Amino acid sequence: VATIEKKIGVLGAGNMGEAFVGALVRSKVSEPAMIAVGDVRKERLDFMHATYGVSPFTDNFKLFNDCAVVILAVKPQQTEEVLKQIAGHSGYEIGARKLFISIVAGIPIRKIEELLYAPLVEGLRKKLPIIRVMPNTPALVLAGMSGMSANANATQEDLETTRTILRALGKVMEFKEADLDAVTALSGSGPAYVFYFIESMIAGGLAAGLEPHAAETLTLQTLEGALKLLRERKERPEDLRRKVTSPGGTTEAALTVMESHQVKQNIVAAIVAAARRSKELSN
Ligand SMILES: NC(=O)c1ccc[n+]([C@@H]2O[C@H](COP(=O)([O-])OP(=O)(O)OC[C@H]3O[C@@H](n4cnc5c(N)ncnc54)[C@H](OP(=O)(O)O)[C@@H]3O)[C@@H](O)[C@H]2O)c1
Repeated sequence: VATIEKKIGVLGAGNMGEAFVGALVRSKVSEPAMIAVGDVRKERLDFMHATYGVSPFTDNFKLFNDCAVVILAVKPQQTEEVLKQIAGHSGYEIGARKLFISIVAGIPIRKIEELLYAPLVEGLRKKLPIIRVMPNTPALVLAGMSGMSANANATQEDLETTRTILRALGKVMEFKEADLDAVTALSGSGPAYVFYFIESMIAGGLAAGLEPHAAETLTLQTLEGALKLLRERKERPEDLRRKVTSPGGTTEAALTVMESHQVKQNIVAAIVAAARRSKELSN
């Protein structure tokens, strides 16, 4: 694996912050001595230190100053306060180059630039590249899908550092920032759609007369199996679907109901609505 020799700081030791720290340590992309975490909750810092051996910081500005890569993982409504604690500090300056990565949903790069760049002259801004990332919750089990978008100050090396971090949590793709709303709508919120589909299949199994345990087992293994078939056969989903749909058969009976209720069109509309909402929230 590619490793990162720079000191990495994670601001916000919640669900996502912990996912990043855990992935960096377990994948050996970084090591505990090179990782710092900051949080307002003392018990979270104690837990992170005890579990991963990383250094705890109660002072966000100190953490920012101490690290060459800073990952912002607080809630959207906490973001402005944290950025102000850093950029509003009397000792705020950029000495060595520092990569700032935000995983905060709905906060545009422009907003982070406004707060972090305001006190800096142009030459120093260039030393503080900003990359915005949209991860998803399967990152918690190292099967995440992240979309990333960088500002003009990011170099190839900054992008590679970010990719290396995100690969420890799953997969990563690059986008222009305007596309992050669609990324949010598809992979960010996507796990919820899949859970909804799973709930529906289980409910269908029950309605057809199965016990809950059987309905659940059949549903989950079918999902895993279908995904594996899709990946290994490298065929298009619509082709695989046609193959299992014989005329007048059981699958066709189900798909006829789905088509008559425009299930596909409705899922498309749902994802478009999520993208629109993401755009509204970040304005
Ligand atoms: N979950 C996802 O799928 C997903 C996907 C994409 C992006 N994200 C983004 O990831 C970010 C983190 O989400 P999360 O679920 O990990 O949130 P979280 O569990 O609430 O973690 C945030 C942590 O930061 C702490 N905190 C609050 N104010 C702080 C401050 N001023 N300085 C330092 N730490 C502070 C919080 O403490 P308190 O609890 O006391 O406030 C909490 O421990 C969010 O912005 C979210 O939009 C999440």
